[in-house]
Amino acid sequence: VITYASDPVVSPDSLVGFFDGWPTAPTPDVHAELLRRSALAEVAFDGDRVIGFATAISDGVLSAYIPLLEVHSTHRGRGIGTILIERLLARLSDLYMVDVVCDDDVAPFYARLGFTRAAGMMRRNYGAQGGSL
Ligand SMILES: CC(C)(COP(=O)(O)OP(=O)(O)OC[C@H]1O[C@@H](n2cnc3c(N)ncnc32)[C@H](O)[C@@H]1OP(=O)(O)O)[C@@H](O)C(=O)NCCC(=O)NCCS
Repeated sequence: VITYASDPVVSPDSLVGFFDGWPTAPTPDVHAELLRRSALAEVAFDGDRVIGFATAISDGVLSAYIPLLEVHSTHRGRGIGTILIERLLARLSDLYMVDVVCDDDVAPFYARLGFTRAAGMMRRNYGAQGGSL
């Protein structure tokens, strides 16, 4: 059975298999810390195993940004990603803007949740992809 939690304390041991395809994936320790430091974190569990998460950073008055969303490939296509974003959006419903930058193939997923297409710009420092504590 899949359960959800807002801003849970998650041990690094339960954070395996994320950042799929990232050349320099953040370690479970880095992952646990970014969940802790995000303004909002929504986490999906299958038993006591974490199988999905989404984060938001926000000024708390006008704007928020969703930097990360991932569901384990074994659990995709079951609505878990949708629920994670819906839970974030419910908590951000007082804000004027909620933005996300995503790959083109994921845009339909966000369109279903009320997002519209816009031009996005991004800058990446690949040397820092693994994060730092
Ligand atoms: C994007 C992601 C989180 C979706 O999670 P999920 O639990 O599979 O999502 P849902 O089951 O709620 O999917 C809802 C719909 O979006 C579609 N969808 C999800 N990801 C998609 C993708 N990459 N390409 C095309 N369609 C996609 C699904 O087909 C589904 O539509 P359907 O119900 O009509 O079949 C998951 O595919 C994932 O972890 N991808 C890798 C990481 C990533 O791309 N994250 C987004 C960063 S912004």
